[in-house]
Amino acid sequence: MEKLLVEGGHSLNGSVRVSGAKNSAVALLPAAILAESPVTIEGLPNISDVGTLSQLLEEIGGTVQKQGQDVYIDPSRMISMPLPNGKVKKLRASYYFMGAMLGRFKKAVIGLPGGCHLGPRPIDQHIKGFEALGAEVTNEQGAIYLRAEELRGARIYLDVVSVGATINIMLAAVKAKGKTIIENAAKEPEIIDVATLLTSMGAKIKGAGTDVIRIEGVESLSGCRHTIIPDRIEAGTYTIMAAAKGEEVLIDNVIPQHLESLLAKLREMGVTIESLNDQLIVRRSNPLKSVDIKTLVHPGFPTDLQQPFTSLLTQASGTGVVTDTIYQARFKHIDELRRMNADIKVEGSSAIVNGPVVLEGAKVKASDLRAGAALVVAGLLANGVTEITGLDHIDRGYENIVEKLQDLGANIWREKMTEAEIEQFQNS
Ligand code: EPU
Repeated sequence: MEKLLVEGGHSLNGSVRVSGAKNSAVALLPAAILAESPVTIEGLPNISDVGTLSQLLEEIGGTVQKQGQDVYIDPSRMISMPLPNGKVKKLRASYYFMGAMLGRFKKAVIGLPGGCHLGPRPIDQHIKGFEALGAEVTNEQGAIYLRAEELRGARIYLDVVSVGATINIMLAAVKAKGKTIIENAAKEPEIIDVATLLTSMGAKIKGAGTDVIRIEGVESLSGCRHTIIPDRIEAGTYTIMAAAKGEEVLIDNVIPQHLESLLAKLREMGVTIESLNDQLIVRRSNPLKSVDIKTLVHPGFPTDLQQPFTSLLTQASGTGVVTDTIYQARFKHIDELRRMNADIKVEGSSAIVNGPVVLEGAKVKASDLRAGAALVVAGLLANGVTEITGLDHIDRGYENIVEKLQDLGANIWREKMTEAEIEQFQNS
C-alpha cells in the first residue's frame, strides 16, 4: 500500500493533458456487452475503475485487449454469468452491468455496487426503469436479480434526476421492443457520450443531453469504434489546482462548455482564464475573493468538483458557503482540511469556509475519490509536506496524477507505507 506526499509552495507552470472521462468510461465498457461484434474505444483512461470493469467483462466471457491508445472489447462470447460478489462491490458503476446484461440477455444477477461513501446512494430509479421495461427485479441477499420474458418500451419519469439511472435505462431500452421515453433525464455530457456509442452500434436514440430521451428499440447492435470525451472533472481539478498555484497552466484536451459553471465561479474569485477551442489557460491572481457555490445537476456546479473547490476557497478572503444539493453529506474532506488549519464548519448540507488561511502540511486521509483530490489541492498550497493515505481512491479516477503534477513543477511523490502505517490506516 502506498501513500502520497506533497510538498507545498511550488508554483505550477506548463501544460497538462486531460485523460478520457472516468464517468463515461465506466458506462462505455459495460455498454459494449450489448454489441454482437467487437467494440473499440479510443482514449479510455488508465485508472483502476477501468481495470476492474475490464476484468468483470472478462469474467463474463469477453475479450478485452489494450492496443496502444485503444481498448478492444470482443463481446461475442459473453454469457449472462451471475456477478453477485467480488469485483462488482469495488465500484459504483458495476450497476451498469444490470442494464447492459438485461438488454442483451434479458437476465442478470449483480451484487449491490460499492464506490465512494457519499451518504445514501439508492438505485430505486434504476429499478423503477427496469420494471417499467417489463423486468422482474428482486433483491436477494445483497444482489439484484433481474429477469424479463421480453423488454417492452415504456414511458419512464425519473423522480430524481440521476446520471446512473438515465444511462442504465438507456442501456436496457435500446434492445426493448418499441419506444421508450425517459422524462426528467439527467443531461450530463457522459450521457451524450454513451448515447453516441450506442448510436454508432446501431441504437436509435434522440434527445440525449436534454431532459427527454426517446429511444426506439432495435433487434441487434453491432461493434463500432468510439472516441471517449475528455474528463471534465479531471480538467476541473487541474483548473482548480492552477487557480491555487498556477503561474500559467495550459489545460489541454478539454471541452470548455462542459465546465462553464466552474469557470464562471473561478472568474468571480478573480482567477484569469482564457478559454480556447479545446484548451484553457489559467493564471492565479492575488488576492482571491470568496464565493458561494451550490452543486446542481448539469449544467450546474458539479458535485464532483465541490470538494477540490473547497480547498481553494480556504485561500480566498471572506466567507464562502459550499452547499451540496446532490450528496448532502459529501463533506468527509472537511475534517482533514481542518487538520491542515482550514477554518471550515459544516452546517447541514453546507460547509462554511473562512479565508484566507495559511494551510499547514499534515497527515490526512482520503475517504473518497474527490476528497483525495481536495487534499492534493490543499497539499500544493500548504507549508511543508502533506501525507495523504487512501491513495486507492485517487487512483480510481485520476490517471498518472503524480506524473502530471510533477510535469507542472509540483513536488509530489508516492511512498510505500510501513506495516505500522498500514495497520494504523486500516484501524482509522
Ligand atoms: N438517486 C436516487 N435514486 C437513484 C439514483 C440516484 O435517489 O436511483 C440520488 C442520489 O442519491 C443522488 C442523486 O440522485 O443524491 C444523483 O445521483 P446520480 O444517480 O446522478 O449519481 P450516480 O449516477 O450514482 C454519478 C457519478 C458520480 C457523480 C454523480 C452526480 C458515476 C459512476 N458516478 O453517480 O461521480 O457524483 O453522478 O453527478 O458516473 C465521482 O466521479 O467522484 C462520482 C461520485
